[in-house]
Amino acid sequence: MTITRTMSIATLAVLISGTVYLSMRQNPSEMAMADEPASRAARPVITNTSPSSSDRARETTNKPTYVGREQCAECHRDNFEQHAAHGHASTFIEVSETDLPDIFDKQTFDGGDAHGVYTYSKDDDGNLSVSLPNAEQPSKIPLQYALGSGHNARTILTLARGADGVTEGIEHRVSCYPDKRLGMTVGHSEKKPARDLEKFGDVTRGELTQRCVYCHTTTGILTEGRIDRLVANVNCEKCHGPGSEHVRQARNSKNPPPYSVGAENWDVESEIQLCGDCHRLPRSVTKQELRDYPDTMTRFQPVGMLRSKCYLASNREMKCSTCHDPHQSVHGLSQQDHIQNCIQCHDTDDSSHTICPVSAKTNCIECHMPKVSQEQGIEFHDHWIRVHEE
Ligand code: HEC
Ligand code: HEC
Ligand code: HEC
Ligand code: HEC
Ligand code: HEC
Ligand code: HEC
Ligand code: HEC
Repeated sequence: MTITRTMSIATLAVLISGTVYLSMRQNPSEMAMADEPASRAARPVITNTSPSSSDRARETTNKPTYVGREQCAECHRDNFEQHAAHGHASTFIEVSETDLPDIFDKQTFDGGDAHGVYTYSKDDDGNLSVSLPNAEQPSKIPLQYALGSGHNARTILTLARGADGVTEGIEHRVSCYPDKRLGMTVGHSEKKPARDLEKFGDVTRGELTQRCVYCHTTTGILTEGRIDRLVANVNCEKCHGPGSEHVRQARNSKNPPPYSVGAENWDVESEIQLCGDCHRLPRSVTKQELRDYPDTMTRFQPVGMLRSKCYLASNREMKCSTCHDPHQSVHGLSQQDHIQNCIQCHDTDDSSHTICPVSAKTNCIECHMPKVSQEQGIEFHDHWIRVHEE
C-alpha cells in the first residue's frame, strides 16, 4: 500500500517505543474538521492506575511488559476465540508458514517491460524465492513476510540491509488475491524501477518500512535488515497495551484495577484515535483527498465516519464499536446484524429518531454505505453514511 504522508516526530517516537495503544489524541472538534489534517502533539491518554478508582483492589504497579495473547485466553475465552477469526490475527505471517510457496512455485508473472518476468521457486526447505533474468544486483531474493489475511489480498515484504545499514523493505510487485490468483500489487501499476532492487517491487527505507510493520504487528523494531522483538499480527496487547501487570493483578484478585479501556479516561475519542491510527484519520490524508473524497478514501473508514451526519449529529458519540465488536470479524456477520446497528438510532418505535422515508426497516447498507470497488476487485464500504444521489 502506498504511504501518502511522512510520519510526524510524535508517531516516530511511538514507533520506537513500540507502544501504540494510547498513542495520540486530538481535540474532537478538530477531528471533524475534514480540511485540517495537521498533526498534533502527542500526549498519553491512559495510565494503568486511575486515581479515583473505586473499591477495586489496589496494589503497587510495576512497568507492564508484553505477555502474548495466549495468556489472555485463560480468563477471556470468548474474546480470544473471536479475535482468532478476525483479520487482525492473521495479517503478518512468515511466507514459509503459509500455502504461498505451493501457490507460487514454478509460476512466472510478467511484471512489464521495465521490470521483467518473475520466476518463483520453492527450495527443499519450503522457502520461496523470486528471480529476474534482467536484474543483477541482486537477481534473486527470498519472499519473507505475507501481509494481509487474504480476505482481500496477501502482499509480500522482503527486508534487506542497505549499504548504510538502514533497513530497506521491498513490497513485491506481485500479490496473491482470493482463489490463489496472482496479480499486480495495488498501487504498483505506475511504478518505474530506478535500480535492480526496485524491479522486484516498491522499495522503502527506514521509518516508512517501520510504519508498514507497525500497522500489521503488535511489536517489531527494524534493525539492520531484520525485525527484532517481533510479535506478529494485531493482537490483544496492541490495542490494550502490555498486559503483565493486569494478568498478575487478575490472578490475585477477582476485581483487578482498571486496565486499558476500563480506565476512567478511556472515551469515544480514545477509541477513534486507536482504530484511526491504523485505519487512518483525516490527518493521514492530503487536503485535496479530503475535499474531493475520491473512491480510494473508502479504504480509510474513520475518514468517512467522521464526516457522517450520524456522527456529527449524535453528539459525536458514534465510534467504531457502535457497530463493530473490536474482537469480532465483520465478515461472519449477516446483513440483519448490520441493520440492527442502524436501528439503534433510527428506530421506527422511537418518535425522537429520524426515520427513512424510503425504507424504514431494510437494506440500509446497500443504499447508505454502498460497496466501492478498488483495484484488483477489492471492495470497501463507504463509511461516509449519507443519501447518495441517483
Ligand atoms: C495496529 C493497527 C490496527 C489497529 C490499531 C486497528 N486495526 Fe483494524 N485492521 C488492521 C489491519 C492491518 C487489518 C487488515 C486485516 C487483514 O489482513 O485482513 C484490519 C482489519 C480490520 C477489519 C476487517 C477485518 C475483519 O476480519 O473484520 C475491521 C472490521 C477492523 N480492522 C476494525 C478495527 C477496529 C474497530 C479497530 C479499533 C478498535 C481497529 N480495527 C484497530 C490494523 C489495525
Ligand atoms: C497506517 C497503517 C498501515 C500501514 C503503514 C500499512 N498498512 Fe496495510 N493495512 C492497514 C489496514 C488498516 C488494513 C485493512 C484495510 C481494510 O480492510 O479496511 C490494511 C490492509 C492491508 C492488506 C490487505 C489487502 C487490502 O488492500 O486491504 C495488505 C496486503 C497490506 N495491508 C499490506 C501492507 C504492506 C505491504 C504495507 C507496507 C509496505 C502496509 N500494508 C502498510 C494498515 C496499514
Ligand atoms: C483492534 C483493537 C483490539 C484488539 C486487537 C483487542 N481488543 Fe479488546 N477491546 C478493544 C476495545 C476498543 C474495547 C472496548 C469496547 C467497548 O467500549 O465496547 C475492548 C474491550 C475488551 C474487553 C472488555 C469488554 C469485553 O468484551 O469483555 C476485554 C475483556 C477485552 N477487550 C479483551 C481482549 C482480548 C483478550 C483480546 C485478544 C484476544 C483483545 N481484547 C483484542 C479493542 C481491542
Ligand atoms: C487471571 C485472569 C485474567 C487474565 C489472565 C487476563 N484478564 Fe483481563 N480481566 C480479568 C478480570 C477479572 C477483569 C475485570 C472484570 C471483567 O471485566 O471481566 C478483566 C478485565 C479486562 C479488560 C476490561 C478492562 C477493565 O478494566 O475492566 C480488558 C480490556 C482485559 N481484561 C484484557 C486482558 C488482556 C489483553 C489479557 C491478556 C494480556 C487479559 N485481560 C488477561 C481477568 C483476566
Ligand atoms: C454505523 C455503523 C458502522 C460504524 C460506526 C463503523 N462501521 Fe465499519 N462497517 C460497517 C458495515 C455495515 C460494514 C460492512 C459489513 C459487510 O457487509 O461486510 C463495515 C465494514 C468495515 C470494514 C471492512 C472493510 C470495508 O470497508 O468493507 C472495516 C475495516 C471497518 N468497517 C472499519 C471500521 C472502523 C475503523 C470504524 C470506526 C472509524 C467503523 N468501521 C465504523 C458499519 C459501521
Ligand atoms: C449513534 C446513532 C446513529 C447510528 C448508529 C446511525 N445513525 Fe444515522 N444518523 C444519526 C443522527 C443523529 C442523524 C441526524 C438525523 C437528523 O438530522 O434528523 C443521522 C442521519 C442519518 C442519515 C441522513 C444523512 C444526511 O446526510 O442527511 C442517514 C442516511 C443515516 N443516518 C443512515 C444511517 C445508517 C444506514 C446507519 C447504519 C449503518 C446509521 N445511520 C446509524 C444517528 C445514527
Ligand atoms: C432503496 C434505498 C434505501 C434504503 C434501502 C434505505 N434508505 Fe434511507 N434514504 C434513502 C433515500 C433516497 C433517502 C432520501 C429521501 C428524501 O430525501 O426524500 C433516505 C433518507 C434517509 C434518512 C434521512 C431522513 C431525513 O428525514 O432526513 C435516514 C436517517 C435514513 N435514510 C436511514 C435509513 C436506514 C436506517 C435504513 C435501513 C433501515 C435505510 N435508510 C434504508 C434510500 C434508502
